[in-house]
Amino acid sequence: MHDLVLRLPDDFHVHLRQDADLPAYAREARDRFGRVLVMPNLAPAVLRAEDVIRYRQAIVEAAPGLEPLMAFKLTPRHEAVELRELAEAGAVAGKVYPEGVTTNSEDGIHDLRQIWPLMEVLEETGLLVCCHGEKPGAFSLDREERFLDEFCETASRFPGVKFVLEHVSTAAAVRAVGSLGRNVAATLTLHHLEITLDDVVGGMLKPHLFCKPLAKRPEDREALRQAAFSGSPKFFYGTDSAPHHKGKKECAAGCAGVYSMPVALEGLVDVFDRAGELDRLEDFCSSFGADFYGIPRSTRTITLHRSPWNVPDLVDGVVPYRAGETMPWRIASVSDS
Ligand code: NCD
Ligand code: ZN
Repeated sequence: MHDLVLRLPDDFHVHLRQDADLPAYAREARDRFGRVLVMPNLAPAVLRAEDVIRYRQAIVEAAPGLEPLMAFKLTPRHEAVELRELAEAGAVAGKVYPEGVTTNSEDGIHDLRQIWPLMEVLEETGLLVCCHGEKPGAFSLDREERFLDEFCETASRFPGVKFVLEHVSTAAAVRAVGSLGRNVAATLTLHHLEITLDDVVGGMLKPHLFCKPLAKRPEDREALRQAAFSGSPKFFYGTDSAPHHKGKKECAAGCAGVYSMPVALEGLVDVFDRAGELDRLEDFCSSFGADFYGIPRSTRTITLHRSPWNVPDLVDGVVPYRAGETMPWRIASVSDS
């Protein structure tokens, strides 16, 4: 097979950044995705209705044709009236950041139970809760697993609220999401389907593969791959493409984040193709996420062509995922409607 036609995918977890950085990153996303759930960890954060409106406007101006789905940083300090305003402004999800676990999360929560008082209004407004699932203070490789108790307790206690466990990185998280109710789903990234901690620190240090949550053990990666190939609607694509300029990664205190967007669909097709699972790809990247978020599946299509190309060493000042490697699939065209 040389051509692959897919329903236009959605990316349910992306960092588009802000100001001068935004246009290039947003256009890179538009080349591959119809809708993107845009993460709010800017400085200052996307917190209130006016922030959502302003940020969405900046994205739409930077990359006409890309449809941003807006998330805000959900904190225990939010008032019910603010959440209602956020929903009216078109926000679809609140993102919870535990304290200090990733980029711009210094003001995060200690425990998910801190947002229990907001659950009633979250249910009433239909806002989803997206969780960065890592426990502050836990040993780095155990942080995701240590978050699961409070996540499971919260998601079971509030079945009228939808929860997404973001960028899962462990077999334990896959099991937890699988065992919870229909109000719970998880996103999977391209890089967590491909790499383990050994790719990051097992030989020479690879700062461009350093991200949160850290890539884990081979058996964890295998569980993530099986989840992606399973056909379960609980698992769908969120790239967590998180660009940081080259100098912010290649330094003494490097930022966490993998810039996967320049290969985010090409690489995913390659993963499914090499596993003999292309039949499962469209549901994973173009259908299950929209279904969970309660939005219509896209009616547009994207065509990929089997034709090798080399990933540049640098894209807009950032070293992309798979830099310098040859990718077997390239994007040929995107339909208008
Ligand atoms: C993300 C970023 O840089 O904003 N970094 C990362 O390692 N994934 C934040 C996040 O999603 O954790
Ligand atoms: Zn992220």
